[in-house]
This record gives sequence, C-alpha cells and structure tokens, in this order.
Amino acid sequence: MDPLHIRTPLLESHPMTKLSEFPVYLKLENVQPVSSFKIRGVGNLCQKAMEKGCNHMVCSSGGNAGLAAAYAARKLDVSCTVVVPGTTPQFMVDRLREEGATVKICGNSWDDADALALELAKQPGYAYIPPFNHPDIWEGVATVIQESAEQLPEKPSAVVVSVGGGGLLSGVLQGMHDVGWDDVPLIAMETYGAHSFDAAVQAGELVTLDKITSVAKCLGARTVASKALEWTHNHKIINHVCSDQEAVLACERFADDHRMLVEPACGASLACVYERLFRLWQEQGKLAEMKSVLVIVCGGNIVSLKALKEWKEKLGLFS
Ligand SMILES: Cc1ncc(COP(=O)(O)O)c(C=O)c1O
Repeated sequence: MDPLHIRTPLLESHPMTKLSEFPVYLKLENVQPVSSFKIRGVGNLCQKAMEKGCNHMVCSSGGNAGLAAAYAARKLDVSCTVVVPGTTPQFMVDRLREEGATVKICGNSWDDADALALELAKQPGYAYIPPFNHPDIWEGVATVIQESAEQLPEKPSAVVVSVGGGGLLSGVLQGMHDVGWDDVPLIAMETYGAHSFDAAVQAGELVTLDKITSVAKCLGARTVASKALEWTHNHKIINHVCSDQEAVLACERFADDHRMLVEPACGASLACVYERLFRLWQEQGKLAEMKSVLVIVCGGNIVSLKALKEWKEKLGLFS
C-alpha cells in the first residue's frame, strides 16, 4: 500500500544560510497533506491497524495528530472518532468534521480526552491512535530522514527538531540510525512552558509538568514518551528551551523569508537558526565545525496571521 504522506521538498534557505554562514537545509513538512509531519507517523499507524483488521480509528488530539488521523481514515475509507479537549479551537473541530471524523469533546486537557479515547477503543474493530507514543508512529516519521538523506548533497553536521511528546524526535533518530547518521548530533527544541523533555533530561527520569503555559500548544505534552528519554543514552542530543517570544518571532521571520506560515511549535526549531544558537554551542564546545544543518520544518495548522498578531500582543512583542 502506498504511504499516505508525500515526499516533501528539501531546499536550501538563502536567508538562513546567509545568517548562519553555512548551508541551512529545510525539509518542508508543512506542505504535507494536512500541513504537518504528523501524517507520516499517524498515517503509518492507521495503515498497519487496518491491515490487522481494524475498521475504526480513535485518536485523542485536538491538534495536528487528530487531523492526520481523520485524513488517514478518510483516505483508507474507514470511520474515525477524534476525542478533543474543550480547549480545542472551533476551527479545528470544524476542520476535523470536514475530514469526516466524529468529534467528541471531553474535559479540558489532553489527558481527559485520551482517557475517553482509550475507553472507546476497547470496542471490537476499533484501533487506538495515540499522537506520538507508538513504534509504528516512529517508523513512519523515520521516512523523513530516509528521504532527506537522498535529497541532501552531504551528511549534515546537525539535525533540528521540535519536541512535544517526542514522537518526532524518536522517529527522526530512528531514521538517522537507518541511514548511518549515528554520529550526527540532534538538536531538540522546546518552548518554556512546554518543556517536558528538558525536565526529563535534567531529572534523568520522566517528569510530568503541572500545566502547559506556552503558546506552542502542540508541544504541550505534559510528559514525553519514555522512548524519547531512552534515546538520550544512545545518541548525542543537545536540547534547548527557547522562549515563546523567540518561537513566535521565528514564525514571523520565516513567513517573511519564505512566504510560509507555521505554528510556534515549529517556530521553536526555526528559532535555533534565527537566534544563532549554533555559534553559542560551538563556543561552548558542544558542537564541532558546522558544515550544514538540516531543519525539520514540522509545520502545523493552528496558526493564522490573526493568531500571530495576538501572540505578539500577548507576549509584549509590539513596542
Ligand atoms: C506542528 C507540530 N510540531 C511538532 C510537534 C511535536 O511532535 P511530537 O509530539 O511528536 O514530539 C507537534 C505535535 O503535535 C506538532 O503538531
């Protein structure tokens, strides 16, 4: 069966290359169907569930994973229920319904929605589709690196990803090991207020944040997948927490540079370039010479020109 994701373009960013003084390559996952990398992993998991005989997908996510599940189910011609927390914006609920999903609203956090999804998925023929914590998700996400390795002129000196629950990180690392990039450092970016990976790295064990306060709501898993923490023992990972201001400004600058709009969840990765963090890590001896970098532009739907303006106002970015 053909995958549900597309082979996305990889391009060198002229403005970012100029700023960094080494080539910055962008893997444009924002142009996937339903506008984020999520379709790679969620699509793979849904296809495998269908091959096992499931005919109804149940996903717990009011964000990009839920939309990817609804899209995958429609393409696979099976039904789908997406359980979302009450905090989900109405336009996402409408968008999920447009994809043909039944939307159930439950509680005020992802944990509430997830508990109902797990309950519903006990029915015969139903498959539970988690947003980030499943080997089939990581296997699907790994394709982003397999493609990049074919598209890039050389092995990059580092790869940059954003971290929410750690599905993107785990899949990208799996892909990096598949293509022999075991020695390439991974830069793991989060925003403060959604920094559950950083908290886990600092503590050496999984940590559950009390609440998510960042505007990068799609990075807002209160606890990361244990697989993400496990990877810290098997690969060189530099993790960094940026501010909401840096993530939002990176989205704005990226829109100006490339005429594309992405979520602050993705802005966290872009901030790594715009804030010139590589220079800092080189000075600190954390990174060797940078020949080029690969940034996974993870994309996202929960953004608009209006939202960008509101975040800037909220974060005091208009002077
Ligand atoms: C646009 C976007 N970027 C990054 C992430 C983080 O992915 P993960 O939860 O797999 O770490 C998400 C998660 O929903 C997302 O929607």
